[in-house]
Amino acid sequence: MARTATLTFNDRSIQLPVVEGSEGELGLDISKLRSETGLITLDPGYGNTGACTSAITFIDGEKGVLRYRGIPIEELARESTFVEVAWLLIFGRLPQQAELDDFRERLVRNAALHEAFRHHFEGFLVDAPPMAILSAMVNTIACFPRRGTEDESPEERFLEDASQLISKVRTIAACSYRRAMGLPFVYPDSKLPYVANFLHMMFSAPYAEHVASPEVVDALNLILLLHADHEQNCSTSTVRIVGSSQANIYASCAAAVGALWGPLHGGANMAVLEMLEKIHKGGISAADAIKMAKDSSSGFRLMGFGHRVYKNFDPRAKILKQAADKVLGQLGVKDPLLDVARQLEEMALKDSYFVDRRLYPNVDFYSGIIMRAIGIPTNMFTVIFAIGRMPGWIAQWKEQADDPKARIARPRQIYTGPTEKRYVPIDQR
Ligand code: CMC
Repeated sequence: MARTATLTFNDRSIQLPVVEGSEGELGLDISKLRSETGLITLDPGYGNTGACTSAITFIDGEKGVLRYRGIPIEELARESTFVEVAWLLIFGRLPQQAELDDFRERLVRNAALHEAFRHHFEGFLVDAPPMAILSAMVNTIACFPRRGTEDESPEERFLEDASQLISKVRTIAACSYRRAMGLPFVYPDSKLPYVANFLHMMFSAPYAEHVASPEVVDALNLILLLHADHEQNCSTSTVRIVGSSQANIYASCAAAVGALWGPLHGGANMAVLEMLEKIHKGGISAADAIKMAKDSSSGFRLMGFGHRVYKNFDPRAKILKQAADKVLGQLGVKDPLLDVARQLEEMALKDSYFVDRRLYPNVDFYSGIIMRAIGIPTNMFTVIFAIGRMPGWIAQWKEQADDPKARIARPRQIYTGPTEKRYVPIDQR
């Protein structure tokens, strides 16, 4: 029998259907609440609001579970690659070999930017924030329409759009770094796989190709894979909100780059490194940093700690912590910031402030240490997050576009401003 919940208001009761997800998650369907009672719900930050149903990513924040299309993140991290995971997220199952080969070929074919992009890059100051450049350039891709065949199917068009976005976001990122460094752009190399090609475009010197070590390629592949989707977070919700107006996939993903930029979301990976540097260079002890983080009037938060959904541990942080130890060991990097990070983590995990609020290290706590070890500058960290998240944004945009029940996003509000009053002419105020 269908389950319902009863809501009583002003002596009137209504039945609200209870919706159950495939993992037993329960939700109250309030879609008729306003028409039947005149009430709306108030949920700042949407912590209790399900804005959609989705079959892409499952998270159990209490148990530290993350699965893409049902497959645990730990298995994917061990066995798969970023490109295969991108296909999995977008198409809902693991690809056959021929499908994966076709996708790889599309990524190679779509890697280069139109030459006119040079002028767009030149229009930015050399020290322009890379996330601003990325957002603008993702939108710009749509200004150079592909020459598809006349009888191109919608599926083929979508696959080419998805391939363009996943491939070009990496080229744009590398070009913005090269411009900031005053270096000539490096064209993509069709012989290189996804991550190695990115590192080639970032770091090859003129006439001297950069050959990334397998350890570095693996570490970056892992970071991208772990960031590939995270259900209805701030930037993904942005993709859905923008896409709900039937804006194109490029405009929707460009908006998501803006949402990701903030320090409470994707920008946290930069903020973690800046915090660790400040503590290290300023000779601040880990104990003093913890003390400051506990004092709300200090304005200082322990960046890389806490998560809206994970309340025991972030499974991505667990994987990256091990990966940080491994890659720094392999590369022979001794990083004092890693020692600071370890001390902060150890102290916070024992401190009742963090324990009571269930604040644990999140994915950003260790990703920055790894990116720093492999030579990626701090101001590019959030751009790397965006490269990783692109398949998730695309999968979520498509899921919504294919949903016949999807409606334009249009939340309500409880108005708290002045009630009606008269306009007063300026000389009488
Ligand atoms: N350091 C110190 N105190 C904290 C922290 C922190 N990092 N995070 C939360 N708190 C405190 C907060 O002050 C509040 O205390 P009180 O109840 O006394 O007022 C309590 O914990 C609850 O915090 P909240 O801000 O209401 O929690 P939220 O669910 O709205 O925010 C968060 C989640 C991730 C924005 C927040 O924990 C935070 O700002 N963390 C640091 C930034 C960060 O690392 N962000 C990356 C998130 S993971 C990557 C991603 O998916 O985007």
